[in-house]
Amino acid sequence: MNFKLWGVIFAFFLFAFSTSEAGAHHGSKKEMVDRGKYLVSIAGCNDCHTPFKMGPKGPHPDMSRMLSGHPEKLKMPPAPQLPPGPWVWIGAGTNTAFAGPWGISYTPNLTPHKTGLADWTEEMFIKAIRTGKHLGVGRPIMPPMPWPAYSQMTDSDLKAVFAFLRSIPPIANQPPPYAPPKKK
Ligand code: HEC
Repeated sequence: MNFKLWGVIFAFFLFAFSTSEAGAHHGSKKEMVDRGKYLVSIAGCNDCHTPFKMGPKGPHPDMSRMLSGHPEKLKMPPAPQLPPGPWVWIGAGTNTAFAGPWGISYTPNLTPHKTGLADWTEEMFIKAIRTGKHLGVGRPIMPPMPWPAYSQMTDSDLKAVFAFLRSIPPIANQPPPYAPPKKK
């Protein structure tokens, strides 16, 4: 056997190994995205991050704007002052803007567009959900984002949710920033 033949045999094994590796990786990635899709559907992310529209059976998430957050075109007027009593917070009909003792919060765009989570890393996402801090490091994440519940997800579930959010259609939409309560 000459060196050339060894070279061919070596190249063949290298090729077989690399394609089987790639195949295995591809399968697990799809499984992760599918699990993330399932988790997002049962965790109710669409109930706040997808704007509601009115239908014959009442308001429901408009999936043509899936997870794109509070619509930038929907400029909210100043929140009405509630009289003293048990009613303390109010929400927009889209279920994407909320005013209460914490100020006014708007659901961010979770799609992989630059106005959404395009620049986020998986690490930032996991840190934000686990710690309840904006971008994983900043101010507290405000109500009604149920991060304390989601912080109980396993690492692999949070990674799956992030993988799914990476896989959905990017939508250009820049929701307004959080507005803290006005000082009295
Ligand atoms: C009950 C409404 C509600 C639900 C349900 C909800 N969110 Fe949110 N989410 C919000 C609001 C409001 C904000 C903005 C909070 C703020 O600006 O402090 C937010 C913020 C976020 C942020 C940005 C955090 C940051 O760093 O500022 C991410 C990421 C997020 N949500 C992901 C999710 C995911 C994933 C799900 C489902 C597993 C989900 N949300 C379900 C209301 C909700």
